[in-house]
Amino acid sequence: MSMSRHAAPQVHTSFVGPHLAIIMDGNGRWATANGLSRPAGHEAGLRTARDIVEAAVREGVGTLTLYAFSADNWKRPSPEVTALMRLFRRALIGEAKRCLENGVRLTILGRRDRLPSSLRHTVEQVESLTSTGTRMHLRVAVDYSARDAVIRAAAAMRGNGVSREAFSELLARVDHDAMPAREVDLVIRTGGEQRLSDFLLWECAYAELCFTPCLWPDFGAPELNDALADYHGRERRYGGVGLA
Ligand code: IPE
Ligand code: IPE
Ligand code: MG
Repeated sequence: MSMSRHAAPQVHTSFVGPHLAIIMDGNGRWATANGLSRPAGHEAGLRTARDIVEAAVREGVGTLTLYAFSADNWKRPSPEVTALMRLFRRALIGEAKRCLENGVRLTILGRRDRLPSSLRHTVEQVESLTSTGTRMHLRVAVDYSARDAVIRAAAAMRGNGVSREAFSELLARVDHDAMPAREVDLVIRTGGEQRLSDFLLWECAYAELCFTPCLWPDFGAPELNDALADYHGRERRYGGVGLA
């Protein structure tokens, strides 16, 4: 999809373009293969994330959701968790200005009550600073669990039946997102595993899936373009019949 079709941000056409969700997996194995520590692998992963955000904007992606830290990742050794929390804060501070300049709205998806308070504070500042962005919505999932979000949204229904749209709004609200969760169009998982690991289970009902053995620090704009080209060639039937 060329940028020209989605270039100028307009009042009623924010975040045009597909919703791409990426499970950024393989930092640890990349570090081990290169004789580095796992935190060094996450540093390399951050560099990739930066490049992929820019490439996604160029390719006309409307919403990009990056899985950065799952609720189950708290099980990891505490030095790795601490390094990741520091990295997230540094990344948010470092990327905020670039997001603003590129028309990217940055929000964090997930629970916030278990994050270090300094990180929570930075999240709020960056979300407010970039809230005028209309070109691409970048959502970074931190302390995220799709199953927990569904349980919390179901509890918020308080016994009332709701439509799918209304449930999507509840899901967004329980995870602090600024707007209703959009259905995911394409999921890319790097690192070779073929599973969702509790990521966007509701929003991925009809998502196209792309699994690549490429470790996240080795993933780049050419690999992203290949995945998007493959996605654009797929026929999405949503339970209906095909075109042929
Ligand atoms: C993904 O890379 C990043 C996070 C989960 C924070 P991993 O750290 O899971 O890398 P592998 O799977 O051990 O290689
Ligand atoms: C999923 O990767 C979470 C992120 C990429 C942030 P994991 O490495 O935690 O997933 P599993 O343990 O292989 O399922
Ligand atoms: Mg992993």
